[in-house]
Amino acid sequence: MADYQALSPEDIFKNPEVRCYIESGNNCLGSIGFTEHGLAHAKRSSHYAQRILESLGYPARTCELAAIAGYMHDIGNTVNRADHAHSGALMAFTLLNKLQMPPEEIAMVCSAIGHHDEKTAYPVNPLAAALILSDKSDVRRTRVRKDAVLAADIHDRVNYAVEDMRLEIDPEQKVCTFNIVIDTEICPVMEYFEIFLERMVLCRKAARTLGLQFELIINNTRLL
Ligand SMILES: [Fe+2]
Ligand SMILES: [Fe+2]
Repeated sequence: MADYQALSPEDIFKNPEVRCYIESGNNCLGSIGFTEHGLAHAKRSSHYAQRILESLGYPARTCELAAIAGYMHDIGNTVNRADHAHSGALMAFTLLNKLQMPPEEIAMVCSAIGHHDEKTAYPVNPLAAALILSDKSDVRRTRVRKDAVLAADIHDRVNYAVEDMRLEIDPEQKVCTFNIVIDTEICPVMEYFEIFLERMVLCRKAARTLGLQFELIINNTRLL
């Protein structure tokens, strides 16, 4: 009988190997000119994924596993941006298996990581749904790299234009609201939709998995 360990999110946050792969993935994307996918994005995704499930009354351990999946979800960028959800899930499997996490928990974390990226994403379990919502709602100016040329990249423009962003869950009304304020001088709302429509459709699917209706509010106007 294997000697399994109960790993807390803090155990994973302070693990130097996990940290190394988050940073190396972010460095690869930095070289290509992509937005920030490093520790700030990992911690935010982790925090929000956990908070979403907590606010809906999921068991404490499920919420902790969401925090772990959220923190580790982009390590696959170390291998390649393409299919990073799948390579990341396999890397997470190796790391968590070595740390002796029970297989049922590894399976949930790896499924969430492996189903978070647009093209192949699906809210296959509550962790995956919470991760999709937390990951896709991380749009903020600080994700734009210092040397970015705004005129050249729509992702940079959209992220740079975001002045305020809030993801709110109303457990009573069963609503998940993504409320953002964007500077339309930098990026027209249309540009936001050009790259985020697919993500917002995915968020709606994820919200539904958690029994919630998804609402998108941009500059005080309800769009979804
Ligand atoms: Fe990702
Ligand atoms: Fe991400």
